[in-house]
Amino acid sequence: MAKLKTRYVCQECGADYPRWAGKCDACGAWNSIVEEAPVASVTRLGATKGHAAETVSLQAHLPEEPRWHTGSEELDRVLGGGMVRGSAILIGGDPGIGKSTLLLQSSAFVGKTVPVLYVSGEESAQQIQMRAKRLGLADTPMKLATTGQIEAILATIAQEKPGLVILDSIQTLFSEKSESAPGTVSQVRLAAHELIQVAKRTNTTIIFVGHVTKEGQIAGPRVLEHMVDTVLYFEGERGHTFRILRAFKNRFGATNEIGVFEMQSEGLRDVTNPSALFLSERPEGAAGSAVLAALEGTRPVLMEVQALVSQSQLAQPRRTTLGVDGNRVAMIAAVLEKHCGFPFGRHDIFLNITGGLKVTEPGADLAIAAALVSSLLERPIDPHTVILGEVGLAGEVRTVSQLDMRVKEAAKLGFTKALTPPAGKTIPKGMRVSSLKRLDELTAGLFD
Ligand code: TYD
Ligand code: MG
Repeated sequence: MAKLKTRYVCQECGADYPRWAGKCDACGAWNSIVEEAPVASVTRLGATKGHAAETVSLQAHLPEEPRWHTGSEELDRVLGGGMVRGSAILIGGDPGIGKSTLLLQSSAFVGKTVPVLYVSGEESAQQIQMRAKRLGLADTPMKLATTGQIEAILATIAQEKPGLVILDSIQTLFSEKSESAPGTVSQVRLAAHELIQVAKRTNTTIIFVGHVTKEGQIAGPRVLEHMVDTVLYFEGERGHTFRILRAFKNRFGATNEIGVFEMQSEGLRDVTNPSALFLSERPEGAAGSAVLAALEGTRPVLMEVQALVSQSQLAQPRRTTLGVDGNRVAMIAAVLEKHCGFPFGRHDIFLNITGGLKVTEPGADLAIAAALVSSLLERPIDPHTVILGEVGLAGEVRTVSQLDMRVKEAAKLGFTKALTPPAGKTIPKGMRVSSLKRLDELTAGLFD
């Protein structure tokens, strides 16, 4: 028998190395490489006979996964229409953003019909009870357990037979079998693996809560993101009361779907009309402000882009952007200069999507261009105008996906004018649509 080789594997990204190293070249993580026990070679594995797995025909009629409503339409939509029975969900976010609040509220709703076990390694039962009281959920039939020990959690699950388990948080999980500290990569991986196995076997839904590190990753292993069915991130700005829940991965629904909530003194409330909220503080008659309709998952959301353009004293003018890619803005400014003759090369540019929102889609280009031109010329844009379109390097205005749906959403909010690429077919009542083929038609379209 050939001697089996020890492998060294990065616990963050899974890359393997012939010998130990302090830093993983593949993902850049430090101290993430650990020795893994040798595995029997393939030829030996083939010799040992396994049991055949049960197979199912693709055409066989399997029942659809039942889903539970969570009492929040926003959360239901982000999950793809409710919580799928037997699925594993990971919710990440900064400490204090409201993860425990969201889960206590939604599990209390699910708890009306399904046995729920809430396991907290962070708070005492009294603290959770106090929060439940504050949220008006004190008489929900829900079991609480305050431990992070994985063996105890598995035994509790076996005893209580819950339909839904909340684990708050993965950072407090530890196993007797492992000697490393709670929340370390190997602890989390081991714990999550065992819990997901049990959950799948017993058709229990399991929700892991994970705090996010400064780099924006769920602390510990990214491995966990691969192990679960759904990964949601809870985001929000300090000083703002609204929170956005974003589906980053979902085996049971659309990714990039968002849910919007507002944190109030009695907990999180659904924001059913996020566009109105995001536009509520828009300055009146100010130059440099433009509105676009971005597609967030399956739903268009209106947001404001603000530009401040001022004469630069620097050899290399500043381009500072928040919520949009700086390269994209530099490109749009260059196209405006080349094809429309605006002297952005001699101006500093500051650009922001208000409310701490982010846009990544090229459909926002034309609104960015409009905000830049409006600020440069110090001419405000009519506040009831929504602007959509991608800008090409040749100065052409290109189409965006779901244009009709976006224009319709703007019309619903009282917008009366839309500047779009020439593609929209159905024009909503009360809306005037000007289509632009080229960027040099923008000024005329904006200030006619
Ligand atoms: P929490 O759910 O504990 O955050 P996480 O679990 O993500 O760490 O939320 C904590 C914050 O939310 C805290 O700053 C207080 C605030 N909050 C409210 O404003 N209203 C409420 O009803 C509750 C329960 C919390
Ligand atoms: Mg918490």
